[in-house]
Amino acid sequence: MCFHRGGTHKTIVARGLRDIRRLLVLGIETSCDDTGVALYHGDKGLRTHALASQVDLHRPYGGVVPELAARDHVRSLMPLVVRVLQDAGVGSQDINGIAYTAGPGLAGALLVGAALGRALAWAWQGPAIGVHHMEGHLLAPMLESEPPEFPFLALLVSGGHTLLVDVLGVGRYRLLGRTLDDAVGEAFDKTAKLLGLDYPGGPAIALAAGKGRPGALCFPRPMTDRPGLDFSFSGLKTYTRNAVPAGTLDEQVLADIAFAFQDAAVDTLVIKCRRALKETRRRRLVVAGGVGANAELRTRLKKTATACGAKVYYPRPDFCTDNGAMIAYAGWVRLQAGCSEGLDFTVRPRWELTDLSAIDGPPA
Ligand code: KG4
Ligand code: ZN
Repeated sequence: MCFHRGGTHKTIVARGLRDIRRLLVLGIETSCDDTGVALYHGDKGLRTHALASQVDLHRPYGGVVPELAARDHVRSLMPLVVRVLQDAGVGSQDINGIAYTAGPGLAGALLVGAALGRALAWAWQGPAIGVHHMEGHLLAPMLESEPPEFPFLALLVSGGHTLLVDVLGVGRYRLLGRTLDDAVGEAFDKTAKLLGLDYPGGPAIALAAGKGRPGALCFPRPMTDRPGLDFSFSGLKTYTRNAVPAGTLDEQVLADIAFAFQDAAVDTLVIKCRRALKETRRRRLVVAGGVGANAELRTRLKKTATACGAKVYYPRPDFCTDNGAMIAYAGWVRLQAGCSEGLDFTVRPRWELTDLSAIDGPPA
């Protein structure tokens, strides 16, 4: 499918839009444990966004419970849509299109956003577009004041993905490397659980690592001793498990383990980015996805990129983790290029980024 092309919605024409770039798009994100809603306008940029986090709901289980996530999206989504419209001072008649995350993610959670997004688009007589969650992350730095120009290299690091992508334009993605097992965010989460730290694990590990002593422990940097740009994080997680002494965990030992784990995970990502920058000779590196909020990673990548003559672009930390703004923007990009869905809708819990269609010319 265009995933999208084929069937530019007649309603766009029917509503007489003079300038398709002036679309006001409502974005809906429900792929995992955050309900995100936002409004993006082609000329005015991001109008407003809101997020309902499910962290408290899943905390007792130490991870996301898919059924609970879907039910909570049902509860939170519509009130959030109403709030975003009120905050922006717009009515349903002002909305020109709706973007919802169609995948990858948890099937039940995705269905909530897709069903509401598609239904609202029908009721409000506008087009709808199913957005790839990782394309949302990848394009999130475009919402910042100094967005990167194409082409660029992208490191996408979330709870479900670790990807190095050569980005030539929207939908023009060449996969350079990916994890062969756990995603780096997943490794952070599992390691945190092992250490008895709070959920979600990434920020908890980062906090504990702040009290760790450099050099107290040294963990391996997986797959950095051989050529290639793929990753593997499950061995690092096992190595961490073996480093945990039996019995009660002393606070300093816990901090040292957190430090050594974060140091190894970040170093591994930095080594592969340096290699990819050298191989591709790209001068711009985009870092996005939840782990992109990690302060240590941000500092170290900035240094490395500068040494390679490149510049790093991040979304603001709030837009590294899941949010509706990146979905509204990615949806706007594809809607203004003429892509849209029919009246039916599909969710794709597994969906390769490289399956997306290219759109003509990136929006300036
Ligand atoms: O992009 P995201 O919000 O959701 C997915 O698409 O998966 O990423 C969530 C992941 C989790 O694994 C979380 O532990 C990790 O991002 N994360 C972090 C930090 N903040 C979130 N990992 C390391 N350091 C952080 N500060
Ligand atoms: Zn995400």
